Amino acid sequence: MLASSERDTRVDEYNPRVITLARPEHHYCYLTDDAGDWLATNDGESLHVQGHVDDAAIWDVADDGFMHVATGLRLLAETTALGGATGLRLNGSDVSADGSTNSGTVPGTFHIGHGPERLPSEYLATLQKEGWVSLTCVLSPRVVDGLQRVGCVDAYADREPVRQPPLAQDPAVTTVTTEPVSLMLCREYMHTRDIRLGHSPGITALGRDDGKREVQGWHNDFPYLWGTGDRIPVPSGDLVLGMQRNVCVSDFTKDNGATLFKLGSHASNAPPPREWGISNNTYRKGHRAKFGLPYAGPDADVVEAPAGTIVLYDARTWHRAGMNQTDKKRGAIIQAIIPGFIVPFMDTSGTYKAFLESDAHQQVTERERKEIEKLMIHKIAGPAGLFAIGIDRELTERVRQQAAASRSVY
Ligand SMILES: [Fe+2]
Repeated sequence: MLASSERDTRVDEYNPRVITLARPEHHYCYLTDDAGDWLATNDGESLHVQGHVDDAAIWDVADDGFMHVATGLRLLAETTALGGATGLRLNGSDVSADGSTNSGTVPGTFHIGHGPERLPSEYLATLQKEGWVSLTCVLSPRVVDGLQRVGCVDAYADREPVRQPPLAQDPAVTTVTTEPVSLMLCREYMHTRDIRLGHSPGITALGRDDGKREVQGWHNDFPYLWGTGDRIPVPSGDLVLGMQRNVCVSDFTKDNGATLFKLGSHASNAPPPREWGISNNTYRKGHRAKFGLPYAGPDADVVEAPAGTIVLYDARTWHRAGMNQTDKKRGAIIQAIIPGFIVPFMDTSGTYKAFLESDAHQQVTERERKEIEKLMIHKIAGPAGLFAIGIDRELTERVRQQAAASRSVY
């Protein structure tokens, strides 16, 4: 039970510190081949294509082509228009599809794509220092539009939601799920290349708060859930067991339910304080009427960001969902990302198989297909070989019966 004094410390104030991220005026760009792999250079002299994004794959438009941001290498192009495709020349030679420039090479075609505002290494430095980072407007307007359509928000607010996994509805859901900078950051921050989705991607549309319904309280995320589930028994220190990726499908504002954080609290390796109102308590029927809302005073932070932004944070960070006080639905994708050795929150195999059979699967790049397979198929790799893990219906029935039987005894 909550202490009766708890009411005194929470007076339904909504006065968090507001961090407002502005829409960037400039983005870098990607140059990708037909498979969706990135043209890159490590030494500023020779080119190659690679299946991931780091500083080597970041380009900027220069007068008559592109300049490699980290090394200054220059390429000549036929066009630099975003969304276009072009041949490239390096030191007077055509660039082939694999990045080589040998004489007699067949010229490759490269697609000019929307890139991040900053270098991946800069985002990583911020994430490692602060425990969170914003990839502001890292998604292209085309992807944001697709997500808003599937989520039935913003220009699509009157659209009826479709009962089909979002991944199968629109290729934009695959593009956001495999967004390469956030995946690179997860891999670096969790010290493993072997990462997974903790559950299937979903788009939520948050409507106006009615002033009555129970609300989400403070918590840290899967797999930690300290104080609200306690899945990880001791502080994990440098061994990071989960990250959370919040995608702003709509603009996130203080008034429309942008997430509340206690930024930097991941470093405490501790649960949020009970007196702030934790999820296990706030979801109890009648809690809000009796005790008011969870804490939202000046020790909390709210991050306002334009649609298309990804906020990535250490899953230990204390946070809670905001409340929408506007009449417009606010879209979001809240995604847990975990190392491959953590048991996921939910099975993703059914959704993945539905995606395989969808038109959307045909509409994404080969690179996106490879990446989403890695992210959504949980595996056992052991002495007996490699196996995919999914739900076993027979055994599920058995454990459910046993669980029901044990409950009835008490
Ligand atoms: Fe959460």
